[in-house]
Amino acid sequence: MSGAAAAPSPEELAWLARARVLAEEARGQVSPNPLVGAVVARGGQVLGEGHHAGPGLPHAEVEALLAAGDAARGATVACTLEPCSHRGRTPPCTDALLAAGVARVVVGCRDPLECDRAGGASTLVAAGVEVAFATGADEAACRRQNGPFMTWARLGRPEVTLKLATSLDGKIATASGESRWISGPEARALVHRWRAEQDAVAVGSGTALADDPLLTARDVPGAPRQPLRVVFDGRASLPSDSQLARTSAEVPVLVLAGPEAAPERRAALSAAGVEVALVDAAREERIEAGLAELGRRGVQSLLVEGGAGLAAAMLDAGVVDRVAWVLAPTLIGGAGAPGAVGDPGAERLADAPRLREVAVERLGEDVLVSGRLHDVPGGG
Ligand SMILES: NC(=O)c1ccc[n+]([C@@H]2O[C@H](COP(=O)([O-])OP(=O)(O)OC[C@H]3O[C@@H](n4cnc5c(N)ncnc54)[C@H](OP(=O)(O)O)[C@@H]3O)[C@@H](O)[C@H]2O)c1
Repeated sequence: MSGAAAAPSPEELAWLARARVLAEEARGQVSPNPLVGAVVARGGQVLGEGHHAGPGLPHAEVEALLAAGDAARGATVACTLEPCSHRGRTPPCTDALLAAGVARVVVGCRDPLECDRAGGASTLVAAGVEVAFATGADEAACRRQNGPFMTWARLGRPEVTLKLATSLDGKIATASGESRWISGPEARALVHRWRAEQDAVAVGSGTALADDPLLTARDVPGAPRQPLRVVFDGRASLPSDSQLARTSAEVPVLVLAGPEAAPERRAALSAAGVEVALVDAAREERIEAGLAELGRRGVQSLLVEGGAGLAAAMLDAGVVDRVAWVLAPTLIGGAGAPGAVGDPGAERLADAPRLREVAVERLGEDVLVSGRLHDVPGGG
């Protein structure tokens, strides 16, 4: 790639920011595709806007070019993600951009899938189109908008969000095992919206047995997309009459079992309509191997909803990308009441995972503390 294009101007970066807003409209609807927005503009005037609304539907650049019509000739297109150069469910965006005769393309961030091919940016440059790349905070904002897609494309596993609700003293249940409900209705409603935006939701076998959860997205406006429901369950101990198993025909359930699972347990779950995947790895590698299995199934985002054992194993494996922690203004106390994160935990304070980009929000009487443990991997 010649790379001689001038850096994006402040006006072009404003179009890129607008394209990010457009892309956001489809959050939760595009997987396994990325969120993408595009703006066609020239001489200070926006000529067309578009976003990708979901698999099989036109890509953002195509929508924006359609809106701009003939005026797109000689114009600049700002798009949040590198245009694709391959034929998937729809034709390559580079073909549409070249056919429209655009003069310049401003790319928010690189597409990791394009890096493995000839590449959308290279294709455009070879055809004489100027291509400029956003840098710094502008690039990061575009990349972070697509955490699930980028993580999956780069690491072969879903982006993992660990969500837990605790009392102020960090307990997820009372000593007698009662955990419903620690958080208030506002926090619970938000979790249902998150479930509808995620490809999959997971709990450990302990939670599946103790709480018999349903893990569906409920009371969400419209017809929410339901996540795949996953149980990290080495012994395949999920009861066949659990809420998860009984509803598996409507919303699929996947049990990630280990080699220690008895064949009759696996057969019983299969007969109940639950899919059982054998994760043939030693216990210390089970989390990563389980996530890789989900990645192979195209799961790009995973909401881990506890309990303490699974949270600890995920943190210990270093695979938690985002944390969403609901703190309820209650004090449970008691050495026998479980803390939110089990063994082994950090030995030294310096080794304790520390959130970055921390945000704090009120949810009714609760407080949501969220942040990232890993930045979204780049596509370059
Ligand atoms: N307040 C909240 O937000 C909240 C949320 C969820 C749960 N809870 C509460 O938490 C309690 C349950 O927590 P829990 O710790 O007993 O159970 P859990 O975390 O749900 O499940 C523990 C299981 O995770 C699996 N696991 C642990 N380490 C692993 C590793 N290294 N690799 C693979 N799998 C591993 C094991 O399954 P196998 O042994 O089957 O392999 C283990 O038994 C319940 O009281 C529940 O009500 C509270």
